[in-house]
Amino acid sequence: MQRGAEVFALGNCATCHTAEGGIANAGGRAVETPFGTLYTTNLTPDPETGLGAWSFTAFDRAMRQGISRAGHNLYPAFPYTSFAKLSEEDMYALYGYLQTLPPVRAEVPQAQMVFPTNLRATTSVWNLLYHRPAELTPDPAQSEVWNRGRYLVEGAGHCSACHSPRNALGAEQGGAAALSGAMIKGWFAPALAGAPAGARGWQVESLYAYLRHGVAPGLAAASGPMADVVESLSPLPDADIRAMATYLASLTEGEAQAAPAPQLPAQPDATHRLFENACATCHEPAIAGTVTAAHVPLGQSMAIRAPSPEGLATVIREGLTAPFSHDLRDMPAFGGELSPDQIESLSAYLRARYAPDLPAWP
Ligand code: HEC
Ligand code: HEC
Ligand code: HEC
Repeated sequence: MQRGAEVFALGNCATCHTAEGGIANAGGRAVETPFGTLYTTNLTPDPETGLGAWSFTAFDRAMRQGISRAGHNLYPAFPYTSFAKLSEEDMYALYGYLQTLPPVRAEVPQAQMVFPTNLRATTSVWNLLYHRPAELTPDPAQSEVWNRGRYLVEGAGHCSACHSPRNALGAEQGGAAALSGAMIKGWFAPALAGAPAGARGWQVESLYAYLRHGVAPGLAAASGPMADVVESLSPLPDADIRAMATYLASLTEGEAQAAPAPQLPAQPDATHRLFENACATCHEPAIAGTVTAAHVPLGQSMAIRAPSPEGLATVIREGLTAPFSHDLRDMPAFGGELSPDQIESLSAYLRARYAPDLPAWP
């Protein structure tokens, strides 16, 4: 029961399978894909609209092969490509846990996909090309903790679903591109592997702090979709968080690089004044340690260092909600006060001031 609840938490099932303002786990959340919109399903054990009548075999097939109980293919926006790596034991525990949720009767809307992806059978071709359903075999050259971490990150954690770039057909890219950073729902999910992650200076301790508490002091604070992930991880034991941190730290390459010194504009303009009025109280407070102040210097912000300005515009427009453990550390949304033009010039200003080592965005 407890293990099932942990796999459920790591899999972030509740976030995707709960509609905005809807009943927990009853499905109906719209998931936008480049090929159309689909809706998550009801995970509660209601026999007609949920998983109540599903055998373990049917559930296991859906989770590993992306085939629903009725036999139709599921779209890979449901991360079965990662869930296929779950051990038999964890899959069984997850199944048992789902059957203990309060049953809710809830029909969900039909997917609206563009041709030919509206034909679910096209997904079976996709599976032949891109899906390798197999459990992970432990790497004997690595420690038990490392292997545990890899299992959690690559399996139920499905971290690659957001952190790996996808090809034109929506499949996660592997090899050197795995976990190399990607745009997701208007947010930038930074690289977790290779030289870019190494340059950030990620180590076991900072990764642990980030995944456990939502903040690696001075380095990064989890916001947007990642704040949901961190909250969702809270039922996991410390040992599992540490195992993930150990595995992730092993994926980084190269030396840590200090954030560049901010470069004040030579000619303060209207955008500079806008920043000083709207943002500086929290981001460059005159008195250090103010309660509302951001944890992380803007020179470390990956939204500002991202390859495109889209994620930064999202942050300014929508603001940020800090994960559970950090009261008074939210950033207000500015979408109502600032015009799209102002957000664009503010973004260009932040890029020039806090990422002077990088080229301006086109
Ligand atoms: C990133 C969002 C996302 C996450 C995370 C996610 N799912 Fe889903 N899931 C979906 C979507 C979208 C569908 C519907 C796919 C379709 O209609 O083709 C789905 C479908 C399913 C189905 C098939 C149901 C049916 O009626 O055919 C099952 C079972 C399922 N999910 C279980 C889970 C479990 C268990 C977890 C956590 C371990 C989970 N999902 C996490 C998005 C998600
Ligand atoms: C739903 C999408 C999503 C999933 C799933 C996800 N992440 Fe993230 N992650 C993000 C986004 C977006 C950011 C950037 C957050 C920000 O700007 O504050 C991020 C940031 C991070 C960072 C900070 C990187 C940096 O250099 O600042 C780490 C570490 C991280 N994620 C680890 C993980 C791990 C481990 C998992 C799997 C357990 C995971 N993420 C799953 C979207 C996701
Ligand atoms: C009330 C305080 C407050 C104000 C005002 C504020 N912010 Fe923030 N901002 C935060 C907090 C808190 C975070 C979360 C990260 C942290 O704690 O370091 C944050 C994070 C950010 C990030 C980093 C996002 C990421 O994921 O990399 C950027 C960029 C940013 N703010 C820009 C702005 C801009 C531009 C303005 C003015 C239009 C502004 N902020 C106003 C509190 C504030």
